[in-house]
Amino acid sequence: MPRKKLVAGNWKMNTTLAEARALAAAVAAGTTPASADVAVCPPFPWLLPVAEVLRGSVVALGAQNCHPQKSGAYTGEVSTGMLLEAGCKYVIVGHSERRHGLGETDPFLNEKAKAALSAGLHVIFCVGELLAEREANQTEAVLDRQATQGLRDLPADRLGNLVVAYEPVWAIGTGKVATPEQAQDAHAFIRKKVGVILGENVARSLPILYGGSVTADSAAGLFDRPDVDGGLVGGASLKADSFLKIIQAAG
Ligand code: 13P
Repeated sequence: MPRKKLVAGNWKMNTTLAEARALAAAVAAGTTPASADVAVCPPFPWLLPVAEVLRGSVVALGAQNCHPQKSGAYTGEVSTGMLLEAGCKYVIVGHSERRHGLGETDPFLNEKAKAALSAGLHVIFCVGELLAEREANQTEAVLDRQATQGLRDLPADRLGNLVVAYEPVWAIGTGKVATPEQAQDAHAFIRKKVGVILGENVARSLPILYGGSVTADSAAGLFDRPDVDGGLVGGASLKADSFLKIIQAAG
């Protein structure tokens, strides 16, 4: 069965409440059941109001992070149960801004992925190399390490809820989008690796999204490649018209 494309908007630490509501409403109005799968990931405080706006639409809600523990003394953190209760379907785990900006490690991200899948969330697990690593020909070694350490021991009955996002760090927020060939090569490598870690069946049906400076202009060329199953979109997801064009490019 061909993989259905998924386009997810990562709003990062952007939008006022009014902007979040308006953006979610415009995305919901422009998305139909015939569209690719679509999700928006607003900041934590806007999850409930955005869930209200999305009610009855085909647009899913996602969060940008979670903590592996169910509850307890973890000041400032948010549990997977809280995200589910707020209406989330997806959670992003391992975004480079948390790996590199906040020092989150492969084993910690593995704990998050296990907890989120076990709780019933769909996980968008991010991997990707730094510019220096690409220039040193270490892209595959980095992806290998991030996938091997991050995707181990996941709950076998929940692997259908796993999504991987390839986000080369040099492409995020820089306007320097990967070429479709660079994306395809990395995605094919990740799919092969996931086949080894989680099995061929999981690898075959796994959606692998590309993220990093995706725009309405670059989306179609990327989504055309056989192993690119959609996008994780930052800046271009903050304007309904550009995000809807990217959704259209996903068919
Ligand atoms: P940009 O699309 O702004 O480059 O961000 C990509 C990203 O980090 C999505 O998670």
